[in-house]
Amino acid sequence: MPLPAPSASPERVDIQLGERSYPILIGAGLLDDPQSFAAVPAAASALVVSNTTVAPLYAKALRQALAGRFRTVHLLELPDGEVHKNLRTLNLIFDALLGHGSDRKTVLFALGGGVVGDMTGFAAASYMRGVPFVQVPTTLLAQVDSSVGGKTAINHPLGKNMIGAFYQPQLVVCDLDTLQTLPPRELSAGLAEVIKYGPIHDMAFFDWIEANVDALVAREPAALAYAVKRSCEIKALVVGQDERETGLRAILNFGHTFGHAVESGLGYGEWLHGEAVGCGMVMAAHLSQRLGGVDAAFVERLTRLIERAGLPTVGPALGADRYLELMRVDKKSEAGEIRFVVIDKPGSAAVSSAPDALVREVLAQCCRAE
Ligand code: NAD
Ligand code: GLY
Repeated sequence: MPLPAPSASPERVDIQLGERSYPILIGAGLLDDPQSFAAVPAAASALVVSNTTVAPLYAKALRQALAGRFRTVHLLELPDGEVHKNLRTLNLIFDALLGHGSDRKTVLFALGGGVVGDMTGFAAASYMRGVPFVQVPTTLLAQVDSSVGGKTAINHPLGKNMIGAFYQPQLVVCDLDTLQTLPPRELSAGLAEVIKYGPIHDMAFFDWIEANVDALVAREPAALAYAVKRSCEIKALVVGQDERETGLRAILNFGHTFGHAVESGLGYGEWLHGEAVGCGMVMAAHLSQRLGGVDAAFVERLTRLIERAGLPTVGPALGADRYLELMRVDKKSEAGEIRFVVIDKPGSAAVSSAPDALVREVLAQCCRAE
């Protein structure tokens, strides 16, 4: 499919959740345009939550864009990194809100990647039992996944994203220009979540990614614009049917059960979330093959694409016992039984348990030897 030229006005994808519905705006130059935020309720104050890497790049422009809607726009710079996605850092947001005398109408703006977005969302969900917030995602991963759908959380030393809430933003503004300053490793991490949408829902999109992965790695604006838009459309469709993950939404966690084990097993931040998910999808594809959903050619095709996106495809040597132990601490687990997202046919996913013996075979095949 030829790529349409990027449009001058933003693309809009709507997430339909009744009174919690909101738009996702996607385009270039959105962050410093006051018009992007026209739908946000005006209030006395706003707090932009960012981190020490992103704030120097984009906070000034965002604060200027918001200046007409708020009397004061404060900025909080959190320490950068997954290792800081915890209770101590979350508390810095509450300190800032209380320190500035923020009220119930104060609007929080999450300016950064998924770490800032997940923590700011959780702070918004709990400050005074809930204040409005807006996602301004600046990583590919956050634009295609974490800023959309209202999952907010912090990590616990015993498990990833274990403390959190479902809490929807009022608006998501994806400024594609911000992706140009992302380190290459972070861009690849975001591609893992883009690739995910193919096997679970849309094999035509998978074909498109295969044909355009080099353009995506080279950050061609038209390719990025389409990847973000199509990913958001699929995510909006799934979340619109199952906001609180009582069923369907779990398919968005393809590769995540293995991936979260890699992240917490190695220590948060050692592998990026997207890297762990990319490699986790390879493992989940092998498991799907053993359960009869896909053939070896499909597993090979997916593995090759993940590799071309610049992601690891071989898991670290944590040992099968440790992997199994870590995977039991997963929100999908029920009564200690691990549940995996598997592909039941290309373009369709389901949640399934699997015998430990089969999972051990997959780990032996897909991970480095101890
Ligand atoms: P991240 O937030 O750590 O950002 C990656 C790095 O890029 C950071 O160092 C950040 O400071 C830097 N950065 C961000 N934007 C930049 C830019 N434009 N230019 C230069 N540097 C920039 O990581 P991430 O991959 O965005 O998000 C991962 C997190 O998202 C994980 O904690 C994961 O659990 C979470 N997540 C949540 C959901 C959800 O539905 N809520 C979904 C997927 C992932
Ligand atoms: N990233 C998985 C979800 O939003 O459900």
